[in-house]
Amino acid sequence: MAKVEHNEAIGAAEPQLSEDEEAEDQQPETASSSEVLPVEEGKTTKHPHSDDEEADGEPSANVPSKDPQHTTVVASHYNQLKERGLYERSKSRIFYMRNFNNWIKSILINRYLNKIREKAALGTPLRVMDMCCGKGGDLLKWSKGNITHLICTDIAAVSVEQCETRYKNIIQNDRGSGGGGRNSGQSASTGKVFTAEFFAADATLQRLREKYHDASVELNLVSCQFAFHYCFESLRQAEFMLKNAAECLREGGYFIGTIPDANEIMKRQRAAGSDTFGNDVYKITFLCDTEQPPLFGAKYNFQLDGVVDCPEFLVHFPTLIKLALKYGLRLVEKQRFDEFYSESVQSGRGLIEKMQALETFPGQSRDERERQQNLSEYSHAQGHLDKKGAGGGGRFQKVGTLSKSEWEASTLYMFFAFQKMKTSWDKNGKPIYS
Ligand SMILES: C[S@@+](CC[C@H](N)C(=O)[O-])C[C@H]1O[C@@H](n2cnc3c(N)ncnc32)[C@H](O)[C@@H]1O
Repeated sequence: MAKVEHNEAIGAAEPQLSEDEEAEDQQPETASSSEVLPVEEGKTTKHPHSDDEEADGEPSANVPSKDPQHTTVVASHYNQLKERGLYERSKSRIFYMRNFNNWIKSILINRYLNKIREKAALGTPLRVMDMCCGKGGDLLKWSKGNITHLICTDIAAVSVEQCETRYKNIIQNDRGSGGGGRNSGQSASTGKVFTAEFFAADATLQRLREKYHDASVELNLVSCQFAFHYCFESLRQAEFMLKNAAECLREGGYFIGTIPDANEIMKRQRAAGSDTFGNDVYKITFLCDTEQPPLFGAKYNFQLDGVVDCPEFLVHFPTLIKLALKYGLRLVEKQRFDEFYSESVQSGRGLIEKMQALETFPGQSRDERERQQNLSEYSHAQGHLDKKGAGGGGRFQKVGTLSKSEWEASTLYMFFAFQKMKTSWDKNGKPIYS
């Protein structure tokens, strides 16, 4: 059995770092978390929406007649979110959960960039769209992924501006880092310099292609992280967003994303026997019929430690699969975060430590105080150590984990990956995907 190294120090936050993504560049002084502990075994239950129900009906025009209120609410919510520095974030109740989610995105993005690269000839340009890019939390992932060009778009104009500023900083650092940059194309710090474009748009209502610098661009990857569920407000918006994701993808290219798992949400709503449920970290309040949630517009308010607090919509996954096919996207993979973690923890262990994706237990962090207040949040970790200690001669004294509340919040999510099919055209000019 692997021995867990001792190290009392939880990585001190580096106040000078101010970007979400820079967590990847930290060299934390955490204990080596060679023992990691998922808190809960995930079980999937059937979504109350019938799997037989089909989303039918065509959007009658490219642009819906009515601007739904929610997209404006969502945009203003995200526009108002303040950028918090790393030091401030490290004090947050969900510091490790955010890092954990970020770790999952890193593994996911790398996995699909690698798949694309495996099939492409050496030197082929790699073009990506970060749809709903937010403030640019994934910019370093793109940089490290050695992509060639990035299109960043989001409904929140302020976020897009912040994203562009971040990009400029990364590129500047990269060029100034000596080891690579413009000439060799490779830097020691962040990867290859890539070009990028930025614009604000509602991906559920506006055709993104018309806003690209080059509308004929062929993308290898479209990524939509923690955002696709907003389009399930209506069939028309879901179709619009899928069309935006699919229409510029090359054959064999991928559309990847992370969304709340509607099955898991409904399972927890049933277990709670209430339309409001959650824990210290997250709270969901349903604003629709939970006995028979609609396929679209199944609305709930989601609060996450002050990070997100706006209306979201359940994504009925069987409907998403059918709709995606209409735009030539075939589902190739989907997994809940807890399953993904179990599968990826061995290969991703180094990155877990680097990104501080798990908290070291016991440690002398803010959570020493929190543990005193709420021992149950870490009872799983203590139990694990007790068990290992009994059989392992006291060798296991540290473990990497998340608090129960953070784990419950993170395991609300799942990821998906669709692949663009081969497109041919019938004599009426309609696409045929195969
Ligand atoms: C939780 S944030 C995720 C940001 C980023 N993808 C990440 O992983 O860090 C969700 C983002 O989706 C954006 N968004 C929500 N609805 C949108 C829409 N209709 N069109 C474009 N962006 C939207 C929000 O403005 C916000 O930036």
